[in-house]
Amino acid sequence: MIQKFVFVFGTRPEAIKIAPLVLAAKDDPNLECLIVSTGQHREMLDQVLDAFAIKPDIDLDLINSRPNLNGIIGQSLLKLDKFFEDHKPDLVFAHGDTATTLAVSLCCFNKKIPLAHIEAGLRTYDLESPFPEEFNRRVAGLASKYHFCPTQLAKENLVREGCSENSLFVVGNTIVDAVRIIEEKISKEKSIQNKFDEKFSFLKSSDKVILLTVHRRESFGEKMKNICLAIKEIAIEQPNVKIVFPVHLNPNVRSPVNDILKDVINIHLLEPLGYLDFMLLFKRSDFIMTDSGGIQEEAPSLSKPVVILREVSERPEVIQTGAGILVGSSKNKIKQVTNELLQRGPLFDKMSSAKNPFGDGYSSKKILEICKKHLDKSNEKRSEQ
Ligand code: UD1
Ligand code: UDP
Repeated sequence: MIQKFVFVFGTRPEAIKIAPLVLAAKDDPNLECLIVSTGQHREMLDQVLDAFAIKPDIDLDLINSRPNLNGIIGQSLLKLDKFFEDHKPDLVFAHGDTATTLAVSLCCFNKKIPLAHIEAGLRTYDLESPFPEEFNRRVAGLASKYHFCPTQLAKENLVREGCSENSLFVVGNTIVDAVRIIEEKISKEKSIQNKFDEKFSFLKSSDKVILLTVHRRESFGEKMKNICLAIKEIAIEQPNVKIVFPVHLNPNVRSPVNDILKDVINIHLLEPLGYLDFMLLFKRSDFIMTDSGGIQEEAPSLSKPVVILREVSERPEVIQTGAGILVGSSKNKIKQVTNELLQRGPLFDKMSSAKNPFGDGYSSKKILEICKKHLDKSNEKRSEQ
């Protein structure tokens, strides 16, 4: 029997991590696959979908009026309700902890539609950090029938919260699949690297390169300012280092970043990059500084040290394996760790050789196989009744 799987995403990281599942599902003759974008991110989402050559079947087209978080959730909820009513999915997939994830979770729960949660079980147990993501993922956990945990630690969180063991599956993180797919594409299509080399010709082979991103809501204000001031001092004190910073489109990020960093000659503020360019820049960099979730996972996948500009991480595996180091927003700590990594001494060697805790790059296949098997079983049970 053909099963109808619906994949919903709205932001850049959700699209990156759901894309490998969509590609695998499209290859499966026993699946009908529908792709829904809420359009929570507009420009940044389209950049990602281009890299994977994925086109949503439906775009809920929210963002024309740039709603706030409750606007995104409210509008998505109503439009998803109608979409699910029209299409009657056997299973819906949502990823992570965004406003889109929350809307999908509420909608599926109220309509009694089975939900598969990808990247389930990440927790800080602090509702303020990350805000509002810690709340969103807990709700997704409550609403889901299948929890696909990237690691054993994530599974243990859900066991402690009372999820039944047979709804929990440790499968790795689909971001490793995404990195694998993009690396294969880059090695097949030489023009991608050539275009990158042209666009980034300001990076000379002798340059040390730091890739930087920041965007989290809990960093807005004083923390963001401290991070930017630390970066500015590092750049001024070390003129042989180039800091490349693709700046998130959120005005709460762009305004302090531009105010503090725009006139520093060796800091390159760029527009958000497409995923192909971002991956190539990642590989070209000596190390990464970020508050991003996905980038913390990509770092050990690409053997790059990651300096985490947050007070706490729901990805403790990155710190335990040694790939990442938490520095928060303290100027002194950021500068101390950065300067040590720039020396390329034992800390750099240890961080860049850490084991990747997020799997083998074939999580998507495992997830689809588990879902198909479980749905077949529940259909068999229903037809016996
Ligand atoms: C969202 C997610 C966060 C994730 C991040 C990835 C929630 C609650 N948070 O945060 O978990 O880490 O995405 O980047 O869903 N903007 C644009 N165009 C775009 C994208 C954003 O102009 O393509 C600007 C808009 O001004 C928008 C603002 O960025 O209002 C914030 O976007 P939003 O989706 O509300 O939250 P993020 O901070 O991106
Ligand atoms: N990314 C990208 N272009 C950029 C910056 C990031 O393609 O200019 C990718 C990055 O490789 C990672 C994802 O976007 O896979 C992370 O998104 P973000 O940091 O916005 O969100 P988070 O992961 O923190 O939720």
